[in-house]
Amino acid sequence: MKRVITYGTFDVLHYGHMNLLKRAKILGDYLIVGLSDDKFNAIKNKRSYYTYDQRKMMLEACRYVDLVIPENTWEQKIEDIQKYQADVFVMGNDWSGKFDYLKDYCEVIYLPRTPEVSSTKIKYYLSHIGDKYVQKVI
Ligand code: CTP
Repeated sequence: MKRVITYGTFDVLHYGHMNLLKRAKILGDYLIVGLSDDKFNAIKNKRSYYTYDQRKMMLEACRYVDLVIPENTWEQKIEDIQKYQADVFVMGNDWSGKFDYLKDYCEVIYLPRTPEVSSTKIKYYLSHIGDKYVQKVI
């Protein structure tokens, strides 16, 4: 069985995430997602809208994802690759080159990001239309 591993925050799950997970899964038979926990997000200067448990629940409901594990340090990747016997490490190409050191342990693939969507963009958009929208629905 070919195992694929990827990492991220996956907050406000969107079609760019799904596209990444779909292409990652096709690279093998079993997809593991290292999901940044809330403390690690703070280290990355990110603050997610959904908690770790909520993000995990949504990822587990995705048909491409077989296992969600917590990501709490930058350094855990080699250990995870060995522990979960990952053959392929996948990230979006916003991370191009950053994980080449993992090539000693498995194949490393950077997939093209889906253009024009990100959790940050969605949160920014919603926070700016929020007031007008609330007035409209009330
Ligand atoms: N990703 C992607 N295409 C997008 C957005 C994300 O392929 N449009 C990929 C990233 O490259 C990464 C994974 O999805 O491999 C998780 O990314 P994450 O940082 O959680 O998503 P973003 O939407 O980029 O979040 P943020 O705006 O908070 O940086």
